[in-house]
Amino acid sequence: MTACASDEGEVDLPALKEPIANPATDVTDLSFTAGWNFVSTAKSYLLDVSLQSDFSSFISGYESLEVTGLRAEVTGLTPATQYYFRVKAVRESAESDFSNVVMVTTTGTLIDTDVFLKDKAANNFFVGAAVSTNRLSGKYNELLTTEFNSITAESEMKMRTIFLGPGNYNWTAPDALVNYATENNLNIHGHALVWHVEVPDWMTTFTGTDEEFEQIIEDYIKAVVTRYAGKITSWDVVNEAINDGGGIRNSIFLEKMGSDYIAKCFQWAREADPDALLFYNDYNTPEDLTKQNDVYAMIDELQSNNIPIDGIGLQMHISIDNPTRQQIQVDVDKAIERNLIVHFSELDIRVNPDGRQIVNSLTEERDFAQRLKYKEVVDLYNSIPDSFKYAITVWGIRDPESWIIDQYNRPDWPLLFDDSFDRKSAHIGFLEGLE
Ligand code: XIL
Repeated sequence: MTACASDEGEVDLPALKEPIANPATDVTDLSFTAGWNFVSTAKSYLLDVSLQSDFSSFISGYESLEVTGLRAEVTGLTPATQYYFRVKAVRESAESDFSNVVMVTTTGTLIDTDVFLKDKAANNFFVGAAVSTNRLSGKYNELLTTEFNSITAESEMKMRTIFLGPGNYNWTAPDALVNYATENNLNIHGHALVWHVEVPDWMTTFTGTDEEFEQIIEDYIKAVVTRYAGKITSWDVVNEAINDGGGIRNSIFLEKMGSDYIAKCFQWAREADPDALLFYNDYNTPEDLTKQNDVYAMIDELQSNNIPIDGIGLQMHISIDNPTRQQIQVDVDKAIERNLIVHFSELDIRVNPDGRQIVNSLTEERDFAQRLKYKEVVDLYNSIPDSFKYAITVWGIRDPESWIIDQYNRPDWPLLFDDSFDRKSAHIGFLEGLE
């Protein structure tokens, strides 16, 4: 019990009694809530959290953490690990003795984080990354050939790169990516044959007939798919053909080929490679129900007309807040009901979503929330029946290269590796989701 005269001479205040720390509550894999009883005249409390009962070291951020309330959520912890916390009361310069020490063990299983993503997913499904020909060497190569076993071209297999004109194709970049995959025993997913974005300029000023246009597209799809048959095992045949809010998206393909252009593209891809898995790929379908319904209505029509389609790509450009696990599950269930293979094809998780205060660095809180979201999404994917799994592909390797930063014009860290190619908490979350 410490003496109670303060500098300002507040002589009649009682000595500060030490608080009583209560058993921890809301214990999860990565957090718990520490609570204690009220101490009269205390202005605030100092919370210590440690892995040692003698508090010889502290969990970062939890050494004499000042708390004005009677409870604090302790986050950023490790599953299945024993922690200790204690608290003391303070009032200006007066401090109480320490409370009793409370021991708490986080839930979950302690996972071996010294394992590569692809090995943890083992033969369950591919773990892929979006790549570019100028990011295949050095540290990129090291991560691509250790952590991953599948790649997707971020941009260099789109029409703007390959399709120089009718019957005129530039194979330089796609060849380089296919050779890299073959040399390194990586699966390669083709992305994307037909997409309303990144359409070559010559196409937008095409003056031929619609029939001629359609023939040019057929020739293109067949030339690309035939060239890589047996090497590229799967294709996003059509990408983003349904509007946000539903309805078929207007595009040069719709204008010149009609609403059955999607069916024709799938048919041509199948004719070019009977073995390739053919996917329809889109974004925001978990949370945009009207869009989701129209995507599956479009697929129902393809299937009812015996048009070959094997799978659906959910791009999964998501945030720490949305969509919810439940929303993603509903979308995945609709795919499985239709016997479609599911690819989380472009996964990245924003930590600066709308509706949240913008942070200018990856705070511990956002880093922790992102770890939880990666764990949730990967755990959901891992729970899909094996015959409906294909791959989880993350849309890039290092945070600073993510398209998200330009797309949303704000800072963000949506991927698994930081600017130094080091693993982030998100990487642990991915592994935990595979547990
Ligand atoms: C993006 C790439 O990440 C950017 O580098 C490029 O400038 C534009 O395209 N949906 C898709 C992807 O299907 O191909 C897009 O990739 C992101 C949204």
